[in-house]
Amino acid sequence: MYDLIVYPDATQAETACARIVIGQARAKPDSVLGLATGKTMINVYDMLWKHENEGEVSFDKVKTFNLDEYLGVAPENRDSFHSYMRRSFFMRLEKPPAQVHILNGSAPDPEQECRGFESLIRKSGGIDLQLLGLGRNGHIGFNEPGSDFESRTRVIDLSESTRLYYMKNLLELREVPRQALTMGIATILEAKAIVLLVTGSAKAEALSMVINGPLDTMVPGSVLRNHPAVKVIADRAAAQMLTCAGAKVMELRKSHPG
Ligand code: GLP
Repeated sequence: MYDLIVYPDATQAETACARIVIGQARAKPDSVLGLATGKTMINVYDMLWKHENEGEVSFDKVKTFNLDEYLGVAPENRDSFHSYMRRSFFMRLEKPPAQVHILNGSAPDPEQECRGFESLIRKSGGIDLQLLGLGRNGHIGFNEPGSDFESRTRVIDLSESTRLYYMKNLLELREVPRQALTMGIATILEAKAIVLLVTGSAKAEALSMVINGPLDTMVPGSVLRNHPAVKVIADRAAAQMLTCAGAKVMELRKSHPG
């Protein structure tokens, strides 16, 4: 079962998502947070570091694990997800997290890198709260359509549509890598709580497949319906194709949240 919460606009959805992260860090200062990249999360990180700078929350005891990274791209590269995280969150904080874990795209043995990552998650006690965005083809992390629901952290081939989407965001690379390292679907489902943030009309079809379509490996996000503690936070644009049968619509706010 999942909660579906629809807000009138992206800012309110992002605010709600940031509030959940802040609530988690306040309730358990040494939380293990699963983090996502992508455009969807930019404003969420903005809100998080601003609240931290204002002294309302602290992340200095948390451990973080990121979902994915391009294979063959070094952490220093401006297009790496390492760089994204530094730029949009970590280097803006007054006090950085106690531990930051992001798969190393230039690891000499990527399979070993993935196994090591899994073992670090286990040693940390498991992820308390996992943030997720949604790919236009329904992917979560870089688990592309066809990914096994039992999959663990591994190397994956990126679909052409994913590569095309990311092409326009490149800063330094000449083309989007063909492969990535990603937390597996089973790994993601082991998180104690999950927040899926989906904004914008370009995600409407993907979100309707996730919520209203069949449970299908061709729509990796649909597996989230099997998790006991998922909050799906969407704006109205992303939710426009939903028929809400089976979902518990928590609130549909017409005005700004207080
Ligand atoms: C990819 C990324 C995810 C991200 C998703 C949505 O899967 N690896 O971390 O959540 O795409 O990306 P965007 O927010 O740019 O639409």
